[in-house]
Amino acid sequence: MTSDGALRSSQWFGATGRAGMGHRSWMRSQGFTPEVFDGRPVIGIATTWSELAPCNVHLHRVAESVKRGVWQAGGFPLEFPAMALGETLLRPTAMLYRNLLAMEAEELMRANPLDGVVLLSGCDKTTPGLLMAAASVDLPAVMVTGGPMLNGKYQGTDVGSGTAVWRFEEDLVAGRMTQEECVFAEGCMARSNGHCMTMGTASTMASMAEALGMQLPYSATWPAVDARRYETAQRAGQVIVGLVRDDLRPSAIMTRAAFENAIRVNAAIGGSTNAVIHLLAIAGRLGVPLALDDFDVLARDVPTLLNLQPSGQYLMEDFCYAGGLPAVMRELAESGLLHADAITVTGSAVGANVADAPCWNREVIKTMAEPFQPAGTGTAVLRGNLAPGGAVIKQSASSPHLLKHRGRALVFDSPTDYYAVSNDPDLDVDEDTVLVIRYCGPRGYPGMPEVSNVALPRKLLLRGIRDMVRICDGRMSGTAYGTVVLHVSPEAAAGGPLALVRTGDWITLDVPARALTLEVSDDDLAVRRAQWQPPAAHASRGWTYLYTEHVLQADAGADLDFLVGASGHPVPKDSH
Ligand code: FES
Repeated sequence: MTSDGALRSSQWFGATGRAGMGHRSWMRSQGFTPEVFDGRPVIGIATTWSELAPCNVHLHRVAESVKRGVWQAGGFPLEFPAMALGETLLRPTAMLYRNLLAMEAEELMRANPLDGVVLLSGCDKTTPGLLMAAASVDLPAVMVTGGPMLNGKYQGTDVGSGTAVWRFEEDLVAGRMTQEECVFAEGCMARSNGHCMTMGTASTMASMAEALGMQLPYSATWPAVDARRYETAQRAGQVIVGLVRDDLRPSAIMTRAAFENAIRVNAAIGGSTNAVIHLLAIAGRLGVPLALDDFDVLARDVPTLLNLQPSGQYLMEDFCYAGGLPAVMRELAESGLLHADAITVTGSAVGANVADAPCWNREVIKTMAEPFQPAGTGTAVLRGNLAPGGAVIKQSASSPHLLKHRGRALVFDSPTDYYAVSNDPDLDVDEDTVLVIRYCGPRGYPGMPEVSNVALPRKLLLRGIRDMVRICDGRMSGTAYGTVVLHVSPEAAAGGPLALVRTGDWITLDVPARALTLEVSDDDLAVRRAQWQPPAAHASRGWTYLYTEHVLQADAGADLDFLVGASGHPVPKDSH
């Protein structure tokens, strides 16, 4: 709405003279009757549909359901494309482009005659990218994520997309699986529309959108091919028209309380460490004070309730049938771990939304009294002379015996360097070694890819070793597992202490004490720092140049420095 309470779209479609004629006439070339310009709310539907983003490929159908709901509620829906980021194809990493999607979508929402937006996302970066955009524009918004795939099925067992990839690769290297079996398994893992169906980053961020109050209850878990996915979309179309009329905007929904709810929900569902970076970036757009340490402090009292891969056994389809996210949130609310009064896109408070949420399967959704994993096993934030800006580790995906560990570093300046020797039977490595993989941060790779959980050296896999401590300034897929210290900040490419580690140095990881220590004196580190040369720039032009010049470190959400904050939605000047 404008400051005088009028719909902002009326500035375009309600205009008189040549400008208004132009705005209406060209829209009518699509076959709309004049009634659509009668002052009804104009709802943009931002879709990240693309055949290059397979997790989002059904969103054009979801958009049709949203449109039905908008028409039903008396609005005027207009679908528009936003940058589709497919996790599986984009190089060097989809994360390099999250901020570009956020910037593009923000500008499109602001520059067009929209009164509200429905955000259609799915694959990992599309959900945070659109939420960042909506936060900076602050028009009423509802998110509809595309939903998870059906469970993967292989040789009579359920297999999780993403999570199974890591296991199949290890089995192939160790000779437990043939290449032909791997090719067959590929088709079994991803067998329907939808995003990854483990508690990977896409499922996590869908859950975060629901926990923040930005998508309707149960939206995160309906499978992509379930009719109720489309019902939810239609309902979202109705809801957004009401949000415009009530002028209920993202800044009123995504408050500090909502972020605290999301952080606790992330702990309860065993969510991805990527949620840390994305939530920090979204909060930065809204001016909500949120710090890396909040993720540790707020999550410490929260047990993992969900028995889902990669931390547990089941998959998103099972989660849906067990009761979905409201059943988890009800457990938290009844234990006083949820700000029940946080308002949501339903117009009701989150506590009311989940108060009667049933659970149909306690194998999948555990209780606070008998959790899947006890409190304190979520994402921990580590600090020390190796990570002065912080680092994170997902305890529930780690091996308990490695959470306190001291070992000698084996250092590689890229995953490529490591994989060049990882199959060498003479590689000087054992299960106590700490693998350091660096120059994988936002500026370093660039884009902070999900490469941190490098596969174990073949020599160790053949001995039956399945985990070892790895330390990296990059990220890890939410579908992955292992004792991996992630997001080390500042990154090596920014001159962080990680750049100064040498093979043979002793490193101590003490997760209970939240400490990550390089056992090298300050004096020796100063000598090494004087000898350190920053890596050459990745690009001298284009997006990669802009990105590497302006990207913030992981502990600040890896947004671009000039995109932090919001500009709202006024556009005072006409175009002609
Ligand atoms: Fe798109 Fe996993 S690859 S959600």
